[in-house]
Amino acid sequence: MPKNILITGGAGFIGSHLVRRFGTKYPNYHIVNLDNLTYAGNLENLSDIEKAPNYTFVKGDICDRALLLSLFDEHQFDTVLHCAAESHVDRSIKDPMAFIHTNVLGTANLLQVAKERWEKDYSDKLFYHISTDEVYGSLGDDGMFTEMTPYDPRSPYSASKASSDHLVRAFYHTYHLPIKISNCSNNYGPFHFPEKLIPLCINNIIHRKPLPIYGKGENVRDWLFVEDHVSAIDVIVHKGKIGETYNIGGHNEWKNIDLIRVICRIMDRKLDRPQGDSEQLITFVTDRAGHDLRYAIDATKLKEDLGWVPSLQFEEGIEKTIDWYLANGDWLQKVTSGAYTHYYDSYYGRGN
Ligand code: NAD
Ligand code: TYD
Repeated sequence: MPKNILITGGAGFIGSHLVRRFGTKYPNYHIVNLDNLTYAGNLENLSDIEKAPNYTFVKGDICDRALLLSLFDEHQFDTVLHCAAESHVDRSIKDPMAFIHTNVLGTANLLQVAKERWEKDYSDKLFYHISTDEVYGSLGDDGMFTEMTPYDPRSPYSASKASSDHLVRAFYHTYHLPIKISNCSNNYGPFHFPEKLIPLCINNIIHRKPLPIYGKGENVRDWLFVEDHVSAIDVIVHKGKIGETYNIGGHNEWKNIDLIRVICRIMDRKLDRPQGDSEQLITFVTDRAGHDLRYAIDATKLKEDLGWVPSLQFEEGIEKTIDWYLANGDWLQKVTSGAYTHYYDSYYGRGN
């Protein structure tokens, strides 16, 4: 069945992989990518697909109701894959209102327009909300997040994502808007903006700059290769049940410090530097305020109900990622100039 799909935030990290997967795997689907190109949106992420006949880019804000109404009328969307968000925890600590604006109000606006345009006939419609495991809060040494874990967000970012998840479910229960939600663990891979831990460290190792590790580096994250995230979204779009939530993760927990040491060792080998060279760049800095200790996803439901498992082992995924950054120095150079550099200086130039 052909589909007319609105992907929001398609110029960002995960969104660009989503646009590429749906645009190339399903040539009979038409994809409209709506993105207002914040610092994190980069159309170069999509240069290989920008001329595809089934792809259209629209620069615009998900908070713009008039624009959304006209796009729904023009393209007759039957599917929304909602990926646009402010996504960086550290930025949310500095400027929470931007997160409330896009993540909460923007999502509410999109839900309201989808409801208005679809409510006469909800058949074959889908509002898919892409969310994060951070809504569940912070784990101790044991346990994992399941779909039943109560929400306990602790950063302005995770609180704004939790609010948007609640709104999506409220539209399902109140208006029967056909929705699905997925909550995924930390992603890594090509096109990841180098303010997040893995690409930041890869970039800093290349340039022999300090690797800022918050606190003691004991915090644990559960890392999933980005293409496995979008393959899970693909499966949920096509096989998942309306109204359901699915956790996505790869059972791949790493303490930050151990993860960075692995990256240092691989980069020393690839850059022909003596083993141990890059580890000397590790610099422990002031901890993040309210830093969640541990995230870990239990993705049993997705495996048992829909048969999804990740395709890549971490060792393979991280090699692939490092190779991509080493081969794409131009991309890194461009995104690390301009606004990003100003932000970077204001954040890291704070006397740590
Ligand atoms: P990103 O910051 O790389 O990209 C976000 C994109 O949204 C950018 O292209 C930006 O320009 C766009 N955008 C922001 N505000 C907008 C607005 N008001 N209107 C239109 N476009 C706007 O983010 P990401 O890491 O790709 O994350 C995408 C989604 O996946 C987010 O909803 C995030 O919460 C979720 N998620 C991310 C991760 C992760 O590890 N990165 C893990 C789980 C879930
Ligand atoms: P990040 O990539 O920002 O993702 P999130 O906060 O959404 O999990 O951070 C991953 C982990 O790395 C997190 O525990 C914070 C830590 N971190 C550092 O130690 N140093 C850094 O410079 C950054 C950006 C993150």
